[in-house]
Amino acid sequence: MLNVATQERRAAQRDHTRLLESLAKAYAERSPRSAALNQRAKKTLVDGGSHALRLIEPFPPRIVRGRGAWVEDEDGHRILDFWQGHHANLLGHNPACVTHVLTRAFQEGYGLQSGFTDRLQVETAEILCRQTGSERARFTTSGTLATMYAVLLARAFTHRQLVMKVGGGWHGAQPWGLKGVSYAQEGDIGFECVESAGLPPSVTDEVVVTRFNDPEMLEDQFRRHGDELACLLVEPFVGVGGYLPATREYLETARALTERYEALLVFDEVVSGFRFRAGDAAAFYGIRPDLATFAKVIGGGMPVAAVCGRAAVMALAGREGGANVKFSGGTYSGHPASLLAAKAMMEYLVLHEDEIYPRLSELGERARRTVEEAFASEGIHARCTGRGNEALPPSSLSMVLFPYDEAHALETPEDVRNPAVCDLVLGETALQLGLLLEDVHVVHGLGSLTAAHTEKEIALLGEACRRVARRFRASL
Ligand SMILES: Cc1ncc(COP(=O)(O)O)c(C=O)c1O
Repeated sequence: MLNVATQERRAAQRDHTRLLESLAKAYAERSPRSAALNQRAKKTLVDGGSHALRLIEPFPPRIVRGRGAWVEDEDGHRILDFWQGHHANLLGHNPACVTHVLTRAFQEGYGLQSGFTDRLQVETAEILCRQTGSERARFTTSGTLATMYAVLLARAFTHRQLVMKVGGGWHGAQPWGLKGVSYAQEGDIGFECVESAGLPPSVTDEVVVTRFNDPEMLEDQFRRHGDELACLLVEPFVGVGGYLPATREYLETARALTERYEALLVFDEVVSGFRFRAGDAAAFYGIRPDLATFAKVIGGGMPVAAVCGRAAVMALAGREGGANVKFSGGTYSGHPASLLAAKAMMEYLVLHEDEIYPRLSELGERARRTVEEAFASEGIHARCTGRGNEALPPSSLSMVLFPYDEAHALETPEDVRNPAVCDLVLGETALQLGLLLEDVHVVHGLGSLTAAHTEKEIALLGEACRRVARRFRASL
C-alpha cells in the first residue's frame, strides 16, 4: 500500500480543471432550459434550490416527471436515475402501489392534513413496530427530526449529556449530528470538525466522535467517556459516509459497551431501514438497539420518519413518562397522505420481500461489477463500495471511488472521504457531470438500485461509464 505522503503527492499531481471545464461546457450546451431556470431560481432561492446535493454545478437538471428508473427533464432528456429521491424510492419513481392509493384517497376527500388522528396511524405504526421488533413508535416528518428526538430521549432517559457518533456519519442537520461528518485531516479520526456556524459550542462539545468499525477505539472511548454518555448513535450500514456495512464485531461491541456503561444504543436506520429487508437491518446482526430511527424508504416517497424503540424510553415522550421530552407537535407530523404512502409502501415490501431483496442484492453486485469493468476496460481503476459482509447481504447502494492505490482496502469513511486516498474530484464532480452528458444521474459516484432497475439499465450504465472513462483518460 502506498504511504500517505506518496498518495498526497499523487493527489496534488492531478489537475482536473480542464476536464471539469469541458464537461461543464458540453453540459450547458445541451440543457438550455435547465440553465435558464437556474438563472431565474437564483433570484429567489439560495443557490437556486433547497438541498445542496441537488444543486450541482454549473446547474442541476430541472425535472418534470419520473417513472421507475427514469426521470425526464425540462430539456426533454430521459435520464436514468440512480439517486432515486435520496434513496427513498426503493421501488423507483412514483410506483403505482403508492400513487394509486393517493389518487383514490384524494378523490374520496382524504389526504391533506386534517388535524385529527385516525385508523391509518395505528395501522402504519403496527406494521413498523412488527417489522422492526420495536415496542413503540412515534412519527415525525424527517430523518433529521427523528435522530434529534432520539438524542433528546436518550439524554433524558439516562440523565447524561454526551452523545457519541461515528466519524463520517450523517444524521441530518440537527445539533448533535453536526460534527464529524466531513473529512478534515486533523486529529486521530479525520472527522472532528463542527459542520455549521451558529451552533452553541456547548452542544458540539457534548459530541464525541469515534471511528466506524473500530471496536478497540470504541472500548477506549467508553473507558474515557462511558459514565457520562447518553447514547451511541450509529448506522448499521453507513450511508453518506461511504455505503459501508458495520462489522458484526463492531455492533456487538457497541451493544455490550452501551449495556455495561448504561448508555443507550441508537441505530440510525434512515438509510438501512427497509433497504436490506422489509424491516430493520439490525435484525441481520441479531442486535436490538434501545432506539432506532427510520425515514426514506418507509415513506414511499412522502415525508415520513419515525423513532421506534423500547417502551420505557419512548414513554418519556408521552403522558406515562410525564411528557418530559417534547417529542410532540409538528403540524404535518403523521400527515394522512404521507402515512397512506408509508403504509402502502411497507405493505408492498412485506408482501414481496422474498422477490425484491435478493434481486436488489444481485443488481447491486451486477452494477458494481459493470462499473468497475467499464473503467478497467479504459485502463482506469475504479472501485465500488456497498458490498456485503458477514452480517449484511450485498447492498443496492454503492459509491464509485477512484483510489490512488489499487490495493487500498476502502473499508471506512476515512478511506472513502480522504482526498489523499481517493480522487474525490473525479469520483464526485467529474463523474456526475460526465454521466449526465450520457443521460445518467448519479450522486456520490453512483447511488441506489431500485426494484424498477433491470439488467438493461445496468448495461446502459456500463456503456455510459465506458464513454466517460474515455473522457477521463486525458486528464489522468
Ligand atoms: C443516516 C441518515 N440519518 C438521517 C438523515 C436525515 O434524514 P432527512 O434527510 O430525512 O432529514 C439522513 C439523510 O440522508 C441519513 O442518511
